[in-house]
Amino acid sequence: MIRNQNFVDGKWAASRSGKRFETVNPATEEVIADVPRGDASDIDAAVRAADAAMKGEWSKLAPAERGRLIFKLARAIEAHSEELARLETADNGKPLRDALGDMEGVVSTLEFNAGAADKLQGDTIALPKQYVDFTWLEPLGVTGHIIPWNFPLGMATRSIAPALTAGCTVVLKPAEQTPLTALRFAELAQEVGLPDGVLNVVTGFGPESGAALVEHPLVRGITFTGSVETGKLIMRAAAATIKPVVLELGGKNALIVFPDADLNKALDDVMEGIFHNCGQVCSAISRLVLHRDIHDEFVECLRARVSKLTVGPGMSNPDIGPLVSEEQYTRVHNYLALGKENGARVVLGGGRPKEFEKGYFVEPTIFDRVSPDARIAQEEIFGPVVAAMTFETEDEAVAIANGVPYGLSSGVHTQNITRALRLARRLQTGSVWINEWYIGGVQAPTGGYKESGFGRERGLAGIMNYVQVKNVGIRI
Ligand code: NAI
Ligand code: MG
Repeated sequence: MIRNQNFVDGKWAASRSGKRFETVNPATEEVIADVPRGDASDIDAAVRAADAAMKGEWSKLAPAERGRLIFKLARAIEAHSEELARLETADNGKPLRDALGDMEGVVSTLEFNAGAADKLQGDTIALPKQYVDFTWLEPLGVTGHIIPWNFPLGMATRSIAPALTAGCTVVLKPAEQTPLTALRFAELAQEVGLPDGVLNVVTGFGPESGAALVEHPLVRGITFTGSVETGKLIMRAAAATIKPVVLELGGKNALIVFPDADLNKALDDVMEGIFHNCGQVCSAISRLVLHRDIHDEFVECLRARVSKLTVGPGMSNPDIGPLVSEEQYTRVHNYLALGKENGARVVLGGGRPKEFEKGYFVEPTIFDRVSPDARIAQEEIFGPVVAAMTFETEDEAVAIANGVPYGLSSGVHTQNITRALRLARRLQTGSVWINEWYIGGVQAPTGGYKESGFGRERGLAGIMNYVQVKNVGIRI
């Protein structure tokens, strides 16, 4: 059962101010729950609990025992995945099938990190013979996690799992649009035996609870996924207490398609890459950079496929659910208007599907003949909207792909391996995918170049965000 309270020191708690706020189902615009509107005082209580837990039972567990607890949590999530997926769909709007897929991802993330808990090793350092010198990997301490709404539990576990693996404690501030699964997750964590105070959840708004978490002097690291704008605020605020930050700030990702590509596979990728999760994915294919010789055929095949997509409430398992919130709905529809004003050709979509009176629905949209420097080709739209453009030479394709402030992901479709690797070298993004989009998963590190942020999540690199290296030197 969901308590819809904050989870602090193993107990359910109202916000100290007594204030609450509502969360709505984006398919119906109906209120589905209300949760505490946490502020600095609630964050302070959670951080103090996490700080005390850093010195308690948790700190004495052998690494393998920490790992075992995280494995147990993976089993608990698996056992409750249907329930969690339904909650996620109600809160976020995504198709139930996709929410179930998210839960599989949560389980894999927990398993990967659980298995690593007793494999974090320091080095022995080659000094002259009269010294012994080695390193320990020590947990950073209390860590703050500020999470967006596009993959609510997925994003939360992406950073919580490695933090726990490293022996840190956690204060999680879920997105105000989607707070529910994080609370259920906390309850399951307690049921499997995670000690009180190790995982705390405070719900609330960014400038209140989020900002307080970043400012708190007992918090030793912040992991944030969200907008560039908020990322800059967080980085600035973290400077006051010299906190390391991991920032994952989205992208404007280009898929480059050459004439020798497997065009059907490239089309499959575009369908998944921009329409999955209603386009609300940081590494979505938001720009399609097509060689002139295949441009017309590609756009026509894409139009045919996209015209078959179904849009509807997530519970009925359409291809595309609603956007998460009224704010995102307005934002995406503003970009649709902007695209038309800028003279892009609307191949398909561009508005609101007629059949729904309520709900934050948007038509899957293809813009073509988009100028690479148009705003719809430069700014993250975060909706099911792809901007197509053409190139002639390899240099031109690279210049278009790299010609944005972002640098999260990019992709190349070509059968020419030399060309593919040459491009992989030149593309300024944290991930480059050749002949398939979204290669990776929990084992492969992900993160941004340029204004997409810094620090890497997932993989073993993701655990390193939560350790600090202590060097011990001994004269013998
Ligand atoms: P946001 O970056 O403002 O919010 C993300 C998280 O940060 C939420 O938990 C929010 O409460 C928190 N937050 C907001 N202001 C804060 C502050 N001053 N201090 C601490 N925490 C704060 O993103 P928003 O407004 O929901 O979406 C705007 C745009 O951001 C989207 O249209 C999309 O382009 C981008 N975005 C990118 C994501 C990604 O995966 N990289 C995820 C979500 C949004
Ligand atoms: Mg915001």
